[in-house]
Amino acid sequence: MLELLTAEEMGRADRLTIEGGVPGAVLMENAGRGVADLVSSRFPDAPTVAVLCGPGNNGGDGFVAARHLLDRGYRVRLGFDGDPAKLPVDAAAMAARGRGGWVLPAAALWLAQAVKENGTGHVWTIDDGSEWSLLLQAPACPLLPEERKESHAAFFNDVLDRFGLAPQVTFIPRKVPPFPRIDGKIDLLFSDFLHGPNMILSLLGYFLPRMSRASSILIDSASTAFPSYALLEILIGQLNDGKLPQALLEMTHEDDRAAVTDFVRSSRFTLVHLTETKNRRQNSTTWIKIEPIDLRPHPATAWH
Ligand SMILES: C[S@@+](CC[C@H](N)C(=O)[O-])C[C@H]1O[C@@H](n2cnc3c(N)ncnc32)[C@H](O)[C@@H]1O
Repeated sequence: MLELLTAEEMGRADRLTIEGGVPGAVLMENAGRGVADLVSSRFPDAPTVAVLCGPGNNGGDGFVAARHLLDRGYRVRLGFDGDPAKLPVDAAAMAARGRGGWVLPAAALWLAQAVKENGTGHVWTIDDGSEWSLLLQAPACPLLPEERKESHAAFFNDVLDRFGLAPQVTFIPRKVPPFPRIDGKIDLLFSDFLHGPNMILSLLGYFLPRMSRASSILIDSASTAFPSYALLEILIGQLNDGKLPQALLEMTHEDDRAAVTDFVRSSRFTLVHLTETKNRRQNSTTWIKIEPIDLRPHPATAWH
């Protein structure tokens, strides 16, 4: 066999490439796809391909190759020698992806991954873990069976560490309301559990004065729950008329009332009901789009 690079030299080459800015996961994806290309060009008619993966990052290349070969119609038998819970981060991600396309089992985590890839922003996520036992029963998430921890907080913190997402996320494991203090303005507020009318009022009362001038609020399920839908239809109209109903002001802290009044009077709100026709427990998201009203005349308005 002709040896181009020793294992040690290959490791060094990988390290230098990663330090040069190419993420390890990209190297892994390229390597695995390269193997799949070679196998499919040399053995186009093979009925079955066996892929044997070890517990390190080279095993990750194997998971990628197996996924590509499966996509190309091969019957793939995957052998893995090791403890899945101890796989390095990139290899664990590839293993999870190969099992059904899911890697990060919570909306907050994939938002954090996007923030990390964009290189800017921060995610605050609040979850009291009250539905942890339900989530454990969900069939959708491949990380859960192996990563199952005794509590939601332990599981979530572990995933944050494994995917290197801790710097992008502030995790607040408690019940709301009351809402925690969040410094800075918020560009995207996503509520996936507070969708009753009172909760919507309390959410908006607290967060409206904390939203950026151009921002969005998403509330799961509110568009297909009639009391919430009706409330939002009336409320957003009132806000666009510069009116703050007493019911909303009562949910706003005294110190925030002037700010919320000012914010509402200088903003335009667009209400979009994102719905699907499937009759399932959660089949809508309300999108409240917030934009500033430009109070200063644009120079073009002076042209006659
Ligand atoms: C749809 S799941 C979202 C799970 C996860 N946070 C995510 O980012 O995908 C809704 C979550 O809200 C949590 N929850 C429900 N009521 C809550 C409350 N009043 N305060 C804090 N968390 C709550 C539940 O534990 C559940 O995990």
